Amino acid sequence: MTIAIVLVLILALSIWFHFAGPWDLPALASNWGDIDLTIGITLVVTGVVFIAVILFTAYAVVKFRYRPDRQASYEPENKKLELWLTGLTSVGIIAMLAPGLAVYSDIVSVPDDAMEVEVLAKQWTWGFRFPGDDGILGKSSVRLISSANPFGLDPKDPASLDDRVINANQFTLPVDRPINVKLRSIDVLHDFYVPQIRNKIDAVPGIVTSMWFTPTRTGDFEILCAEYCGVGHYNMRGGLTVASTEEFDSWLASQPTFAESQEGGSSLSPAAQRGEVLSQEQGCLACHGFAASPLGPSWQGLYGREERMTDGRMITADEAYIARAIREPAAEIVEGYGNVMPPYELSDEQIADIIAYIKEAGGGEAAPDDGASD
Ligand code: CUA
Repeated sequence: MTIAIVLVLILALSIWFHFAGPWDLPALASNWGDIDLTIGITLVVTGVVFIAVILFTAYAVVKFRYRPDRQASYEPENKKLELWLTGLTSVGIIAMLAPGLAVYSDIVSVPDDAMEVEVLAKQWTWGFRFPGDDGILGKSSVRLISSANPFGLDPKDPASLDDRVINANQFTLPVDRPINVKLRSIDVLHDFYVPQIRNKIDAVPGIVTSMWFTPTRTGDFEILCAEYCGVGHYNMRGGLTVASTEEFDSWLASQPTFAESQEGGSSLSPAAQRGEVLSQEQGCLACHGFAASPLGPSWQGLYGREERMTDGRMITADEAYIARAIREPAAEIVEGYGNVMPPYELSDEQIADIIAYIKEAGGGEAAPDDGASD
């Protein structure tokens, strides 16, 4: 009896929490009220089953407790009970699954008039790309991604040139217009999640995923990464502002187009640009990069730096050393780091490109025979 009262209290408290907030999901700001409905159905079905199972367990513990004159018996079969349990379980599963499938069919049916927006996830920031005046989100190649060209845009593709690219963590969307988010990742799994929008999806390296929603009220919302993606995961946040169509149009017009962002051109030489793409493809930047990392020596200022090795040797990080460290990393471990890097089989040309990238992007001194004009 006591247990029953406690359970009824828990149920009553849960219902109160649900309606009183702020323990509940934040107030809806998209067309996906149906997702809340499916969450509600699942909570009710699993809640009823949970309480029934706990009540029956409590009843059985008391009713069939040990008595010296009592013996356990084995019942090989109970057709009636099995039919009832199978039937009730099926009803519960159908009650949760059917509305879920109905909502899912809406989730995968993108409206024809939806505006495409590309969201680019990378450790640990968000970037955005909007279609330009032609309304077309120009093609981009996953293969061409690099930190100098994170959207993989091709300057020779006319459809890309008026796209607007935003490498900040903040973007704006118009209210009451369906948005089709195309999601890509430059490095590992991430997940684009705005709690008030409800709908969410993973960003998966190498493929494009998508989801759609219609923002239904204006305001500022927080973008969260909902897939663990490394030490900076907790801080992978961004901002979504939902504004009127006029405010959105003027905001978008103030963002640079891809053509404008290209005007300065890359400050890297062609070899260093190839080295950058290669470093991305080979995953070098996951451990090295240009910031301090516990995983591998930073490439910032690496070229020409004196390093003490774990075996006590002092080396200078020149062409020959970097080439050896790429091909036989186990023999060239810098003091303070572990033996974690696998050997890489790269051609002399590829290694020269990576060294050019380390030199130029990492601010190392130019080699004496480079003919540098200063
Ligand atoms: Cu990105 Cu977690």
